[in-house]
Amino acid sequence: MADADAVGIVENEACGDVLQLYVKINDDIVAQARFKAFGCAPAIAASSVLTELIQGASLQGLEELKKEEVAEALGGLPPLKMHCSVLAVDAVKAVLRDYASRTQTNRATSNYL
Ligand code: FES
Repeated sequence: MADADAVGIVENEACGDVLQLYVKINDDIVAQARFKAFGCAPAIAASSVLTELIQGASLQGLEELKKEEVAEALGGLPPLKMHCSVLAVDAVKAVLRDYASRTQTNRATSNYL
C-alpha cells in the first residue's frame, strides 16, 4: 500500500517469518488494511484474517486485539502454531506505534507553521 497511514513490520526471530501490515486510517478507524507476509501457511492465514478483523475497527479496538481472537477467526490453530497469531498481533502493535509517531510528528510540525 503506497499511501499507508501506518506500517508495522515484525519478525519472529525464532522461525524467521515476517509480516508487513499496512493500514489507512480515517477518523481513528481502520479504513483499509493490507499485508505482505513471508512465512508459514498459518502465518499467512493469520495475516489475511487479521486484515478482515481490523478493517472498520477503532484504534482502541486495535489496542485490545488478542492473539486468541485471531486464532478463533481462523477456526483455531494447533498449539505449535499459536505463535503465528502472535506475529499478527505484534504487527498491529507496530502499526499503532508507527501511527502514533507519525501523528505526533505532524502535530509538532504544525506547531511551527
Ligand atoms: Fe513462525 Fe508461523 S512458523 S509464524
